[in-house]
Amino acid sequence: MRSLILEDVQDLVEIRRISFEDFWSEKEFTSMLSDKSFFGFREDHGFILCRRTLDCIDIVTFCVTPSYRNKGIGKKLLLEVMNLAEETQSKVFLEVAEKNYTARSLYQSLGFKKISIRKNYYKFSDSFQDAIVMMRSPT
Ligand SMILES: CC(C)(COP(=O)(O)OP(=O)(O)OC[C@H]1O[C@@H](n2cnc3c(N)ncnc32)[C@H](O)[C@@H]1OP(=O)(O)O)[C@@H](O)C(=O)NCCC(=O)NCCS
Repeated sequence: MRSLILEDVQDLVEIRRISFEDFWSEKEFTSMLSDKSFFGFREDHGFILCRRTLDCIDIVTFCVTPSYRNKGIGKKLLLEVMNLAEETQSKVFLEVAEKNYTARSLYQSLGFKKISIRKNYYKFSDSFQDAIVMMRSPT
């Protein structure tokens, strides 16, 4: 586990490309990681990118290469963010597609609560899906 740096950008593009339908370019990741409010963590086959604003942390994107999923990498990355949130007494926010049951169960198991719904927030190739907005308060 280590913090994200600009040199990770190519890996992030690739891991994200095979994890989501919408594509984020090298330029987009470079721009985010050049901004001090963005930070994140990575393992060889997964990463989590966040943005800090005052006493809140927003999870911007989070993914693990498909063939390395369900081995604990995602949970480890998320726990790293949650540890930081505890240390800084920050709330953590995220959005997740309504039908992404795997991610939703992971978030729920770590204490995230549903706080609202954004109607038709995600546009997939053949449909729209609501986003569930979830939050975890520090203990
Ligand atoms: C969500 C994601 C990052 C999880 O990463 P991961 O490395 O597979 O997660 P983990 O192996 O740490 O699993 C964490 C928990 O989720 C559950 N889980 C993982 N894969 C699952 C599956 N296919 N079905 C049901 N539960 C699953 C496990 O029960 C596990 O809990 P446990 O450790 O208590 O048993 C990964 O599935 C992914 O990249 N998905 C595509 C992108 C995405 O949806 N990102 C989140 C957007 S909000």
